[in-house]
Amino acid sequence: MSQKLIAPSLLAADFANLQRDVEMVNASEADWHHIDIMDGVFVPNISFGMPVLKSIQKHATKPLDVHLMIVDPDRYINAFKELGAAILTVHYEACSHLHRTLQAIKAVGMKAGVALNPHTSIHLLEDTIQDIDLVCIMSVNPGFGGQSFIENTYQKVSVLKELITKKNANTLIEIDGGVNSGNAKKLVDTGADVLVAGSFVFKSENPTNTIQDLKQVIA
Ligand code: DX5
Ligand code: ZN
Repeated sequence: MSQKLIAPSLLAADFANLQRDVEMVNASEADWHHIDIMDGVFVPNISFGMPVLKSIQKHATKPLDVHLMIVDPDRYINAFKELGAAILTVHYEACSHLHRTLQAIKAVGMKAGVALNPHTSIHLLEDTIQDIDLVCIMSVNPGFGGQSFIENTYQKVSVLKELITKKNANTLIEIDGGVNSGNAKKLVDTGADVLVAGSFVFKSENPTNTIQDLKQVIA
């Protein structure tokens, strides 16, 4: 894929002004809305759930990229489909039957993503890569926004890129955590297709311009 995408993470938005922040993303050069769902079990934090996503969906005009940081995600595949998810990403570490989960996500018409924690090896995807539409490499330990980028991520991106090429798979590489204008270019040069950015966008003085800057850096 040649066009590189930016997905602002609404976890860093102002929840008291969620409509305003969703509309900012709509009007910006961003490509997707990244939505982080945390259950307080898989990760040590709770973000928000279905009713909030329903409100986001009412206003969002770009694809909803939903990142589930929850145990046993199979229980909610249909619910997220109904809430308008275009891409549904589950964690490798949260799925006992990953292949079955991927098929179930695709069967209802969503793209299927797999997220890997920083300690999880890319090699574990050798046998499923052709079934995966997007691999989300976590460049921080999931659970919180605003953490520092883990440098070993570049190495993982290269290994994943090689695997995708070797298996002739059609899989996007997404990077999530600590992304900013200082690491964005090296990430896409190494093979990343989609960059998630939370704090760097929403905590900046002018989020619209920050998104534009990120797009320029990776163009
Ligand atoms: C972390 C989430 C990320 C987070 C990124 O568990 O999956 O999407 O919002 O936030 P920043 O860009 O602030 O690291
Ligand atoms: Zn995320």
